[in-house]
Amino acid sequence: MIILAPSILGADFKRLGEQVQEVDRAGAPYIHLDIMDGTFVPSISFGMPLIESLRSCTNKTFDVHMMVEEPGRYVDDMKKAGADLICVHQEACTHLDRTINQIKEAGLMTGVALNPATPVSTLSCILEQVDMVLIMSVNPGFGGQKFIPYTLGKIRELRNLCNEKGLATRIQVDGGISPANVRDVIEAGADVIVAGSAVFKGNPTENVKTFLDIFEEYAADQ
Ligand code: DX5
Ligand code: ZN
Repeated sequence: MIILAPSILGADFKRLGEQVQEVDRAGAPYIHLDIMDGTFVPSISFGMPLIESLRSCTNKTFDVHMMVEEPGRYVDDMKKAGADLICVHQEACTHLDRTINQIKEAGLMTGVALNPATPVSTLSCILEQVDMVLIMSVNPGFGGQKFIPYTLGKIRELRNLCNEKGLATRIQVDGGISPANVRDVIEAGADVIVAGSAVFKGNPTENVKTFLDIFEEYAADQ
């Protein structure tokens, strides 16, 4: 099954609760929450209080993308706030194995993210330990950026590696995804699709439906 994860960074923050409920009702299984610390990435977004407050709006999976230095410091607080999945950047963790274990011990799903310029091979030792790998298709920090085409090759390489190892690891892709290029990332091997602007600009209900219809074409093909 291919999963849509609308990124609320693209939403209208003055109507955030409503917009989360709208994409929930439209059928998006995940809500993607981008945490930025102003150090790992240039910008600052939001933190635990906002996640906690949105938790009462939806039962969908809270997919927390930590663009934060040493994210292990926040695992327990993120769990308390309502995270279901915590995805940390390989580049932001000095002791990635320890951080992944902290997330597992908290009883949450684990993810590890790679910036566009970080090779897939950097995950060879940890791949068996994680539920999901996030291939960033833009440099993290802002919504509304342009998809970087060479990241398609990284998705393919990672899917082949998972197949060789017999792993059903989820592959998430994040940044610059729209109905125009989503087929390319699915064909490369991604199965968790993050979209911010392409969901929240215009009519979120219709935009979610457009993505879900495309995903169905792939389900029907299999
Ligand atoms: C970028 C964030 C993304 C962003 C995606 O640093 O990790 O999740 O919100 O937004 P779009 O889909 O507009 O590129
Ligand atoms: Zn993200």
